[in-house]
Amino acid sequence: MDIFTRLDPTKTYTTPQLQLILGAWVLSGFVDPGTKVSTTNGHVAEDDYTKQSIYSLLYSLYRSVGIVEGDTGESYEFTFNTWGYAWPEAWGKCPILSSDPQRFGRIAYTGLYQFNEIQEYVKARNGRVHVIEMGCGTGAGAHHVCHNVLPDCTYEAVDMQNAAIETCRRKFVPGLRGRLVATHSDATKLSIPDGSADFVAVNETHVTEMVGVVTPEDERFFRTAYRLLKPGGFLTWGNAIPDVTWQPCFDFLKSIGMKQVEVRDVTKEAILARDLDAGRADAYVRHVLDKFPAFRVPVVGAKKRLEAKLAMENFYRNPGTNLYQNMVDRTDTYKVVLFQKPA
Ligand SMILES: C[S@@+](CC[C@H](N)C(=O)[O-])C[C@H]1O[C@@H](n2cnc3c(N)ncnc32)[C@H](O)[C@@H]1O
Repeated sequence: MDIFTRLDPTKTYTTPQLQLILGAWVLSGFVDPGTKVSTTNGHVAEDDYTKQSIYSLLYSLYRSVGIVEGDTGESYEFTFNTWGYAWPEAWGKCPILSSDPQRFGRIAYTGLYQFNEIQEYVKARNGRVHVIEMGCGTGAGAHHVCHNVLPDCTYEAVDMQNAAIETCRRKFVPGLRGRLVATHSDATKLSIPDGSADFVAVNETHVTEMVGVVTPEDERFFRTAYRLLKPGGFLTWGNAIPDVTWQPCFDFLKSIGMKQVEVRDVTKEAILARDLDAGRADAYVRHVLDKFPAFRVPVVGAKKRLEAKLAMENFYRNPGTNLYQNMVDRTDTYKVVLFQKPA
């Protein structure tokens, strides 16, 4: 069983199914001693995994692990699949509680709406704006925005992973009484009518990852964002991606008619967030690994446990990992950018 490529984004795996999947992966270590995970920094090469499989596993694991205690002592369910960043000093007082274990995710979502142009647009419409999010994960950010950032908005949250959308429907949709809709779909294949959204939000969605190029999927993604926006509406997008990929993305967005409004670099704050969040991430990885007895199988269990630990820590950009180091040397930069579809 290759957990990096074989899992299905239309499925939510139950705990017994996860026991079997991880058991089969651990036991495969007896016949295939090779590994896809760097034992120095957790790096997994692009060709060695698919996002369909990795997120399918992660969202089912988050569901299976459930509520845990965070480093601040507050209990939480892992729902922000977000690196995020520390609140930039230049933005004034941070509106997010420092006791919240998932505060950096909340900050990232709040940051999407920190632009003056967005705030004026919202004010002019008495807060009644419609957001479509492409790549919402569990909808934790959608829920945060609906409650705390745009309290009069309506919101459609879209993700390609069914397990994530099920979490959104279980945990976030009911309390918002019709304001939040969760849609399971590849965001590039949406049948939502043209011109539906005041804002298209993109928060750390796993696109635009290829070094220096805009892939055909990225092009479809941006064309969809353009199509979904009302004239005068905004694409607000934050992520840490290869630094050399930003400009080709900006050029492509301009080529399809979008206007660049502002680009903010929060890489320094993103590194700080990873430093401050390391204890929580480490503890969460331990919770996950301790839950599955397969990692206690003699001989191969400990080896596979280490591989899983390193891969997850790298995925969370923990200090010492490849993805963390990429931000330190600015191979990857975290930016929050605003584009407008001309009126
Ligand atoms: C790092 S997670 C971020 C999730 C969420 N935005 C958050 O910040 O918690 C990346 C997400 O992008 C989603 N994704 C990647 N490509 C997608 C696509 N083409 N359509 C819909 N979702 C996509 C993945 O399924 C995954 O949930």
